Amino acid sequence: MSTRFSRRTFAQLAAASALAPALPSFAAKLDSSQSSTPLSFPKGFLWGSATASYQVEGAVKEDGRGPSIWDTFSHTPGKTHNGDTGDVANNHYHLFQADIALMKDLGLKTYRFSIGWPRLFPTGSGAANPRGIDFYSRLVDGLLAAGIQPYCTLYHWDLPQALEDKGGWQSRDTADHFAAYAGYVADHLSDRVKHFMTFNEMHSFIDLGYGNGIHAPGLKLAPAALNQARHHVVLAHGLAVQAIRAHAKPGVKVGLAENITCTVPVIDTPEHVHAATIAMREENAGYLNVILEGRYTDLFLSRQGAAAPKFTAAELKTIASPIDFVGINCYTADFVRASTSPAGYAMVPYPESYPHMLSPWLRPGPEALYWAPKIAASVWNIKEIYITENGASSSDIPTAEGAVYDTDRVCYLRNYLTQLHRAVSEGVPVRGYFVWSFMDNYEWADGYGTRFGIHYVDFATQKRTPKLSAHYYRQVIARNAVA
Ligand code: NOJ
Repeated sequence: MSTRFSRRTFAQLAAASALAPALPSFAAKLDSSQSSTPLSFPKGFLWGSATASYQVEGAVKEDGRGPSIWDTFSHTPGKTHNGDTGDVANNHYHLFQADIALMKDLGLKTYRFSIGWPRLFPTGSGAANPRGIDFYSRLVDGLLAAGIQPYCTLYHWDLPQALEDKGGWQSRDTADHFAAYAGYVADHLSDRVKHFMTFNEMHSFIDLGYGNGIHAPGLKLAPAALNQARHHVVLAHGLAVQAIRAHAKPGVKVGLAENITCTVPVIDTPEHVHAATIAMREENAGYLNVILEGRYTDLFLSRQGAAAPKFTAAELKTIASPIDFVGINCYTADFVRASTSPAGYAMVPYPESYPHMLSPWLRPGPEALYWAPKIAASVWNIKEIYITENGASSSDIPTAEGAVYDTDRVCYLRNYLTQLHRAVSEGVPVRGYFVWSFMDNYEWADGYGTRFGIHYVDFATQKRTPKLSAHYYRQVIARNAVA
């Protein structure tokens, strides 16, 4: 019955199409040997992927590495999902050559990794452990031999525990130790690494680690102490920029990777776009704005009141040491509307029904990859931007044959890349994109239960398998276009 109905419908459609020449002529053009009109990126656009030391390396007690705050935190009962730790993680410390081969196979142009500070300086300062830098030197050589550009982050949250014992980021001294470590890395790697990022996501590790205590070191500081720790981190960034410049070979570029509040006008009208522009400065006032402008905004200082950080003019100058590029880690959209309040904008909260990926905080808002770099470039006059992280968590259950059809991640990536393409086509200076993450790994307090990789990792065997999203990304890279 239904077959007869659909045949009749088809016949009716065919007859109707005779009266509407546009339909057959379009159908004639649809050639399954071709894909749709490509949304191409400029020649040389850098397609990359990222990981971080504690999340993938394992080997936490090998070759003289000292403990980090994440070793301590993850071994404290009740702090992480299932009590998961990074003790073994992806065993990338031993498997890095095979991982590089996988990267090459995918066609990656660049790989963003982080250096474990406690491998190089087991207690954070003092004498260096040469076996520490040796590992990263071999990693860099392996990447270059595979034609992959190394992008190196100096701090992706694994602070040496010995420094935390002396106050961690609450202590101004930690900033000086960080600068000394940064200079040492520049001495040893800048002949081959041309892009360094000081910090990854200052906002996350300060607010989660020192604010609400759900990340290492698990502190819940009062607002004044929290602001002071935040200030020491931006100061450490500035000192490290200077140290890298002083020690690096010519031609090295320095920046950072920050999870800025990615402001998106709630409706694309001039008043909401204006509001999103004001919000970009104010919502990032304690981190990227002070780094790029060398001042805390009046609104930030008045919002903090008596809890505002203590600082000197000389420190602000150091914090604002010129950088060459800005990395934006972007996962969600932060919707903004115009408001008659003194601030001139208001953040729009997410309705409860708003969908999310496996991680409840990860609510897709692809237009963030259009607006955030566009607004950031115009507010701060940035000439070189990278999307240093973007990606999604998914349930990632393998089929009986071992395939992982992470269509949700593929849709997520396609939608975000389409918006990024929109920005780049308008001339927004985004030079590259790093998908988070190259492979499933230790997702901090969420342990191994939350997967972000485009390669599936069986943590019992350490086998890596490309997911559908890896096949998707391979096409993106090969075509230099949204696939
Ligand atoms: C940001 C962090 O830099 C990274 O370490 C983390 O795994 C991803 N976001 C996903 O949460």
